[in-house]
Amino acid sequence: MPQRELLLFLLLCIAITVPPGFSYTDPDDVAVLNSLKKQWKNVPSDWKNSDPCGVSGKGSWVGIICHDSRVTNLTLFNMDIQGTLSAEIGNLKQLQRLDLSSNLKLGGTLPVTLANLIHLDSLKLVNCTFSGEIPDALGNLPNLTFLALNANNFTGRIPPSLGKLSKLTWLDLADNQLSGPLPVSVNDGWGLDQLLKAEHFHLNRNRFTGKIFEEIFTANMSLRHILLDRNQLEGSIPDSIGLVHTLEVIRLDINGLTGKVPLLSNLTKLYFLNLANNHLTGPLPNLTALTALNFLNLSNNQFDPSEAPTWLSNLQHLRTLAIESGQLRGQIPQELFSFKELQEVNLKNNSLNGTFDMGNDVTSSLHKVNLELNNITSVTLSSNYSNNLMLMGNPVCSIPHLSTTAYCNDPFDQSSAIGSLNITDCSHPFTGFLVFRAPFFSDASDHIEELKQNLTGRLKTCRTPNNLSIQNYYFDGNSYLWVQIKICPDGQSYFNQTVIINCFDLNSQDYKPPDLYGPYYFTASPYHISSTARRYIIGIALGCAVLAALLALLAVYAVRQKKRAQREKLRNDPFASWGSMGEESGEAPKLRGAKAFTFDELKMYTNNFREINIIGSGGYGKVYRGMLPDKQLVAIKRSKEGSMQGDLEFKTEIELLSRVHHNNLVGLVGFCFEKGERMLVYEYICNKTLRDSLSGASGIQLNWSRRLKIARDSATGLAYLHDHANPPIIHRDVKSTNILLDENLTAKVSDFGLSLFVSNSEIGHVTNHVKGTMGYLDPEYYMTQQLTGKSDVYSFGVVMLELITAQPPIKDKKYIVREVKIAFNRQDKPYLGLKDLIDPLLTSKNESLVGLDRFVDLALRCVEEEASNRPMMSEIVKEIEDIMHNGGLNIVNSGLGSWEKIIPAQYYSMDVSSSSSQQNINSSDFKYSGGFPLQWKLNSS
Ligand SMILES: *[C@@H]1O[C@H](CO)[C@@H](O)[C@H](O)[C@H]1NC(C)=O
Ligand SMILES: *[C@@H]1O[C@H](CO)[C@@H](O)[C@H](O)[C@H]1NC(C)=O
Ligand SMILES: *[C@@H]1O[C@H](CO)[C@@H](O)[C@H](O)[C@H]1NC(C)=O
Ligand SMILES: *[C@@H]1O[C@H](CO)[C@@H](O)[C@H](O)[C@H]1NC(C)=O
Ligand SMILES: *[C@@H]1O[C@H](CO)[C@@H](O)[C@H](O)[C@H]1NC(C)=O
Repeated sequence: MPQRELLLFLLLCIAITVPPGFSYTDPDDVAVLNSLKKQWKNVPSDWKNSDPCGVSGKGSWVGIICHDSRVTNLTLFNMDIQGTLSAEIGNLKQLQRLDLSSNLKLGGTLPVTLANLIHLDSLKLVNCTFSGEIPDALGNLPNLTFLALNANNFTGRIPPSLGKLSKLTWLDLADNQLSGPLPVSVNDGWGLDQLLKAEHFHLNRNRFTGKIFEEIFTANMSLRHILLDRNQLEGSIPDSIGLVHTLEVIRLDINGLTGKVPLLSNLTKLYFLNLANNHLTGPLPNLTALTALNFLNLSNNQFDPSEAPTWLSNLQHLRTLAIESGQLRGQIPQELFSFKELQEVNLKNNSLNGTFDMGNDVTSSLHKVNLELNNITSVTLSSNYSNNLMLMGNPVCSIPHLSTTAYCNDPFDQSSAIGSLNITDCSHPFTGFLVFRAPFFSDASDHIEELKQNLTGRLKTCRTPNNLSIQNYYFDGNSYLWVQIKICPDGQSYFNQTVIINCFDLNSQDYKPPDLYGPYYFTASPYHISSTARRYIIGIALGCAVLAALLALLAVYAVRQKKRAQREKLRNDPFASWGSMGEESGEAPKLRGAKAFTFDELKMYTNNFREINIIGSGGYGKVYRGMLPDKQLVAIKRSKEGSMQGDLEFKTEIELLSRVHHNNLVGLVGFCFEKGERMLVYEYICNKTLRDSLSGASGIQLNWSRRLKIARDSATGLAYLHDHANPPIIHRDVKSTNILLDENLTAKVSDFGLSLFVSNSEIGHVTNHVKGTMGYLDPEYYMTQQLTGKSDVYSFGVVMLELITAQPPIKDKKYIVREVKIAFNRQDKPYLGLKDLIDPLLTSKNESLVGLDRFVDLALRCVEEEASNRPMMSEIVKEIEDIMHNGGLNIVNSGLGSWEKIIPAQYYSMDVSSSSSQQNINSSDFKYSGGFPLQWKLNSS
């Protein structure tokens, strides 16, 4: 007995202290991994020292899974790997899965040796930069079921040999530059027709040409999705497509297809059919049997003229119907509009005539009806439909009529803008796009919540707690739905690489979105921060500490001397490096009052740009809170490299802000232009944006009198820009997120990045690229590109409507301006019609909404279609003050909670009169203390 125990103990000791040369992993596999590691930049930082497979075989290296000492799975999704895939990969003999997706800088040609990986089950190289031809040899992988090479730069034909992949279920070659005809076995020996197990042919967005051969489809196939849109295919659609009764999605749009549409009556599972933008002829296809159809688009072909088809009434599950330019005549069938799931009808540019009557049973999900360019002579409006109806170019529009003219001139459809869902914030979110290539709907807002729930459920299975939000979603011009997701780590600051590889790789298709979302792929944005990377850096830092200390001692003196000289130079000429930054930057800015900070100074004031000091972020970069040596709080806007704000805009903003000083405009304290950094230092405004207050995000509740004052304040700031700045300034991006509230809830207009000076000679007409924000854009400016101060007035009118309704300008596809106009026009007593739109917070309080009617009236004048009918900014200020005056309201700038009714006093009109006295600001208006300009305060005099 004792001997046995001793032996066991000895064995255990050996197991624990394995000699360094001993490996659990097959030496051949170790050699391959080491060679990949040498050729690739950014392999996971733990690819070193220990054994790749590890004792457990679960893989001690990130991304490696082994079985019996052999590497079976190699997954390096979204690791920012850079380099090429070398022929040695062919020596990982037992590999079953190779997934290198979302490594944008991994490219080159595919090695033929991939064909040696005979056990390979799935090969995923989505969204890298591989190029050249797809090797023929891939056809020799007998067990391959999943092949995704989409979003690369492959050229040449699809190798016919792929037809040998008899187990293949997923074939995705979309978004490449593949060309030639699709291979079929009768012509090429092998072909796609042999892939009887394949459920997905995703071949869209390539350069395929020629005819789709009749032989490519057979009744024995299992195809669910055929995506061939955006190619250059010709000839007619093969009749054989009608045999594949498993089909759910067909996209053949945007090709050069001709001839008659074949009989599709056996495709009873078809949800999605898009044949738009081809040259199809003959009668409109008869789709009576396709009762499952959710999405149908037959637009822009050359079908024979016909009545609106009677089979439409069979397609009770339609969500989207589009037959644009389809030569339809006669009446539009009324029953269409009562289909329960219907969202969008587009029958633009046909010859539909007579009276258009949707009936009174219109489904509530319907959000858009486009009947432009038809022969409709009269319209019976439905009492329960108030969404988009486009009638421009119909005879009914030539007769001015109160109820219909509202629908006659609205080519500017702001309601198709993007949406988002409960955005959460964190410093290191994982983000990416789910791209749905054929969703069975056209209004995502009805379905996005379901997707979010579903995806949240999936992410719950990750080992790390996390928090999903939908940052953005929109349809692009190809009817693809892009959903940008953002995943925040809960309770820690970033995700480690294991989580990203094991849980966020949605390209594996093991995540199933709700059915009506259809086929998708996923593309992630590079994720740089990782714990292992940090540890690595700290390790190096320690190792080098001694050496560094020595060098540092030597260097300190020299650097100090140099810095002193540089700082001196920078102070004298902060824009010494201007012009070396690119051609567009023009002359260095002319400054008055703003201080040039060095990078090191701002780094110190923000505690090394610590995450905790981030108070906002966006496309431009991040905003940090900082404290100057004199304890003044500032907000520092740090532009991201390559952000939209170019040198020119940066310069514009500095010049503007350093010239403009007004109590209702956010003041510029200084800037930094050094080491490729561009930062603006503003006074710190503590109560966030007006939108944050209206949405409840900032915790501040605004009653009616506060809202009136905020309107007055911001209008005053804008009036100052228009009338008293010299030269005048047009803001160009007035919106509720650009109106900040200070500690007294005084409104201050911010963000002049898009502003334009207007020199005196060009007052009223500045032609420029249209810029601004959806929902606030002046339609006249949008169409004519003629920018005037009245464009700011339009945007301000939208802000006024926001103050009344607390809703963002575009919500659930509804555009606030249209909503208010319709409510206003509908009722005999217009203000009653508004009741449902007013922010419930306002009506819940016992406050009387003094002057609400005049306020609405004013807002509606601001959003008049024609700029000439809108008031001037200064008139708006007067009118709001008058409203306040008549209501006996006055509001003192004395902090939260002191909103009293006081006797109107001369105090009242002060803002306007005294702001005009600020017209000629000279340097004596600035007091300097310790080098920092104090803001010129209205009430300091
Ligand atoms: C490894 O790859 C195989 C083949 O694709 C797959 O079935 C298996 O789930 C993968 N294992 C892990 C842990 O990802
Ligand atoms: C292919 O898969 C089958 C079943 O999954 C398995 O029995 C066979 O060994 C595999 N062949 C190769 C070459 O890996
Ligand atoms: C893709 O390939 C084409 C031609 O082969 C080349 O012109 C283009 O620059 C490549 N694009 C990328 C992103 O590599
Ligand atoms: C539909 O299917 C039936 C039975 O599977 C078959 O006989 C018929 O030919 C098919 N029709 C078309 C148009 O493909
Ligand atoms: C590939 O990834 C990049 C970076 O995330 C993204 O911008 C691009 O749209 C992706 N390409 C496709 C075709 O999805």
